[in-house]
Amino acid sequence: MNLSEIISVRDGNPQCKTCGGVGFTLVEHVRGSRAGALQLCHCVGTDCNTCEAKGQAPYLTFDRSQDKMLPCVCHNARFAIRNFEILVENANIPPRYKFQFLSTIDLGDTNLDPDLSFIVAHDWANELVHKFNDPSFVPQGFYLWGGTGSGKTLLACVILNELIFRYGIKCKYAKVNKDFLSAIRDTYQTDSETHGQERFIERELANVDVLIIDDFGVQKESEFSNRKLYDLIDSRYEQDKLTLLTSNHSLEEWRERGQGRIYSRLKEMTKEIQLKCSDYRMKFSSEKST
Ligand SMILES: Nc1ncnc2c1ncn2[C@@H]1O[C@H](COP(=O)(O)OP(=O)(O)OP(=O)(O)O)[C@@H](O)[C@H]1O
Ligand SMILES: [Mg+2]
Ligand SMILES: [Zn+2]
Ligand SMILES: [Zn+2]
Repeated sequence: MNLSEIISVRDGNPQCKTCGGVGFTLVEHVRGSRAGALQLCHCVGTDCNTCEAKGQAPYLTFDRSQDKMLPCVCHNARFAIRNFEILVENANIPPRYKFQFLSTIDLGDTNLDPDLSFIVAHDWANELVHKFNDPSFVPQGFYLWGGTGSGKTLLACVILNELIFRYGIKCKYAKVNKDFLSAIRDTYQTDSETHGQERFIERELANVDVLIIDDFGVQKESEFSNRKLYDLIDSRYEQDKLTLLTSNHSLEEWRERGQGRIYSRLKEMTKEIQLKCSDYRMKFSSEKST
């Protein structure tokens, strides 16, 4: 994939048709990786034969005329790749949804399936991603809900990937049970690696610029989980931070469950979008069996 429409980095040959001048590309079909990988483009790579580091920082080459080490032609592009990899790594995006972008999502065929809910959500995501840095635009989170396999986690992660690549923003993905509630409970165990780090986990999720809370609503109802979730949402609400939630339940259900304080904050912080499309996982498996 040519990344030149998404990112402003130009560390390659401006005339290069493969990378559009970026200096690296997203290779989508890499063995052993569903997500693909960022790779140095040939327009930089062929000139990098002299590079002593050969893919390892600090990417320097010996210049005989000046009798000293100088940055190789690959230097900036390799550092840019590393920076994006670190941002994506720190965002905790699950491998399946890494390096997925708006343009790589299947919008389906409306002649076969007249349901437009996924297109509505995609359009909304598109506007958020493009206008994110416009001074007049007030970004609003979403509360994306619907049946299993309707593409909620994918769409939320696509927004994260787009924001990371377009603006270099610090983002975080958290599955409500695994990365938040269980992660906090683990910190109470004296033999756990994260022992005593409860506040650190809470603060990290409360303060990151953009946060996905995935599978909101699967957590077991308890005073502990309701209080922890309320504190997290309230903290992001007070700081006006962008939060993207996915759930199998509607927002209204939170009010019905007696969680009016969570409900009213989410109602204000997010746009509720229901995905009515069918299970994409079934489509995968039927394609595989034909
Ligand atoms: N429109 C789409 N284009 C391409 N792939 C899709 C699309 N929608 C879903 N998928 C793929 O189908 C699978 C299921 O999607 P996803 O995990 O986003 O579903 P979900 O709504 O989060 O389901 P659950 O409620 O079970 O968590 C994933 O592998 C995802 O990449
Ligand atoms: Mg999901
Ligand atoms: Zn190139
Ligand atoms: Zn080099």
